Amino acid sequence: MSKRSKVLVRLTGVAVLAMFFLTGCGGPYFPFFEEPPKQEIVSIADMPLGDAENGLALFMGKAHFEHEGPPCMGCHSVGENGILGGGAMGPNLTNATEVLDPTDILGVLTNNGPIISPVMKPIYTDAPLTVQEQADLLAFLEGSVGQPEADREWLVLGISLVGSIFGAAVFGFIYRNRLRTVRRALVKKAQEESL
Ligand code: HEC
Repeated sequence: MSKRSKVLVRLTGVAVLAMFFLTGCGGPYFPFFEEPPKQEIVSIADMPLGDAENGLALFMGKAHFEHEGPPCMGCHSVGENGILGGGAMGPNLTNATEVLDPTDILGVLTNNGPIISPVMKPIYTDAPLTVQEQADLLAFLEGSVGQPEADREWLVLGISLVGSIFGAAVFGFIYRNRLRTVRRALVKKAQEESL
């Protein structure tokens, strides 16, 4: 192969690798063609009117966020939202707007305030909420104040307990022979060595 074609082969390799990293590993974005979405931040006075019903749908994952962020109920509960409610990783938000003022809540949602959630920040930086979504969520939270909070901790505990026992039983069943044969082999080996 001539020196020139060797260089050409190498350059092609580098180009293919670069394409792979730029497109494949760059997530859903083609950095050349599309900028990742930017966080829109407006003050509470400039917020559009929120639609609490759409806020509920967004919170529960029945409506999708424009930039495809995960629904809040994955980590939060509000009132008694459906069986098993929401997740328990984040605080229950039923009375959040009583405790926090709206600016702080918007701050959490836009990662631009006195309260920043280290759990939410990376998620919603990649998938920022639009101003209308922020307004709808806020309206929903404001309308949820005073709702009875679902106390499903015992139910979650019960389900995880049953799950663990079931899991242990299944593993025990699958590995029942394996452990025995391993032990048998060890015993045999020890006996042979002590002879
Ligand atoms: C991946 C889990 C997760 C998701 C999804 C999530 N949150 Fe959170 N959120 C948290 C955690 C955890 C906290 C508590 C602060 C911390 O430890 O990061 C929090 C805190 C908050 C707070 C502040 C509450 C307080 O009392 O300080 C608000 C308000 C809030 N989240 C609203 C939302 C809304 C609205 C959504 C949906 C757009 C959402 N969160 C989605 C995990 C999540």
